[in-house]
Amino acid sequence: MSEALNVALAGLGTVGGGVAKMLLEQKEILLKRCGRPIKLVAAADLNKARFDELGLPDSVSRFRNAREMAEKTDADVIIELIGGADGIAYDICLTALNRGKGFITANKAMIAHHGNELARLSEEKGVFFGYEAAVAGGIPIIKSLREGLIGNKISEIYGILNGTCNYILTVMRETGKPFDVVLAEAQKLGYAEANPSFDIDGIDTAHKTCILGALAFGLPIDLKTMSIEGIRFISDADISFAEELGFRIKLLGVGRRYENGVSLNVYPCMIPQTAEIAHVDGVFNAVITEGDFVGHSMFVGRGAGERPTASAVVADIADAAMHRGGPMLMVANKEVEPVRIVSLAEREGEYYVRFEVRDRPGVVADISRILGDENVSIASMLQRSQTVGGVVPLIMTFHKSKERSVMTALNKIEQLDSVVNKPCMLRIERL
Ligand code: NDP
Ligand code: HSE
Repeated sequence: MSEALNVALAGLGTVGGGVAKMLLEQKEILLKRCGRPIKLVAAADLNKARFDELGLPDSVSRFRNAREMAEKTDADVIIELIGGADGIAYDICLTALNRGKGFITANKAMIAHHGNELARLSEEKGVFFGYEAAVAGGIPIIKSLREGLIGNKISEIYGILNGTCNYILTVMRETGKPFDVVLAEAQKLGYAEANPSFDIDGIDTAHKTCILGALAFGLPIDLKTMSIEGIRFISDADISFAEELGFRIKLLGVGRRYENGVSLNVYPCMIPQTAEIAHVDGVFNAVITEGDFVGHSMFVGRGAGERPTASAVVADIADAAMHRGGPMLMVANKEVEPVRIVSLAEREGEYYVRFEVRDRPGVVADISRILGDENVSIASMLQRSQTVGGVVPLIMTFHKSKERSVMTALNKIEQLDSVVNKPCMLRIERL
């Protein structure tokens, strides 16, 4: 029998607890498949009751302070499941790598903020760095990009990467309830955080999208180059107009390779009801890739939760046990070159806009004139007769137009006396 891979687990919360359970429950299957035992030798959590709740054997050294564990443990691999871009998680990571230990994490925030540096350090130290659970939870998308799709040039990668947002948009569509009500329900169900900003403002999706972009396009991780929009401004009216127009609204992370660079952004968009990703509902995640040899591939599954996320962390542990590694971001750090970022202003595409207008003569004519001046062509228009306080929603979709022109026109339209509030604009993606 080969020597055991000794692992130390920092954080026994939702994901850490799942990993501890899986290592205990699937011990035999992992032994057979990895050809060596995987042994949990140390664990750390602020709540000392967690060790017994999870039934950890006495052989596991117990720590309250994860920093102390990272400094002292003689485990081969340290697994960080605490969270946060900086602070304790980042400290443990640096300690592990500098001590020549393998490192595994589900912490997309830390990778999005420090990924380039961590890739450099892990390569310098020649240690394993696993982060499968950081993107799309249980879906093995990092592995698919690093291994299964390694020979392909990826031209497009996009996906639903935040289960909380997908749940909110799905329930709004199914029940007609407004955003705030569904968000409160999601919080009660434990899907959304008490402070849900990371989820609903698109930040969590951006963390995951920039990791996917680095893998798919070989660019350095850089959140600052991304445009990030969330779903706070989506109203129940937009959801029902989308249905009427044959679309669904989904929050997507979207990466595309163009001749003159790469674009990588997060925004809610209208996608045709016939698109396969339009049917990925509730807390499910999905990632779609276009590779030059393999063509179109779609990955669907649970993007969060104790067991699906633990499944991804344990896949990394198995890789470490079997010495399956390679550079953290697929391409060796010294080979990574800056790539020109194509901004959203350069996008040419279709658009949906909801204006809130005073119901009086000449309003549509004023709006149409401004759009015409900016060379933005109206594809369809929809107005319901019911007004609330004399204000009515006016819906327009635009033919393929330059985003820069659309934004210029919308800024001018917003200044009109007859237009109340900022127009709500959504990109249409014919996926
Ligand atoms: P939890 O909050 O459930 O768990 C974190 C655990 O770490 C808690 O038990 C906490 O203890 C413990 N902890 C905090 N600080 C310390 C410390 N200094 N020393 C020791 N233990 C500490 O988080 P999750 O399990 O949900 O998330 C963990 C990571 O996984 C995050 O990076 C998250 O983004 C990522 N992730 C989570 C997913 C999910 O579905 N939950 C999905 C994909 C990724 P206490 O509770 O007592 O404070
Ligand atoms: N908050 C995330 C989600 C958890 O809702 O998908 C997994 O990263």
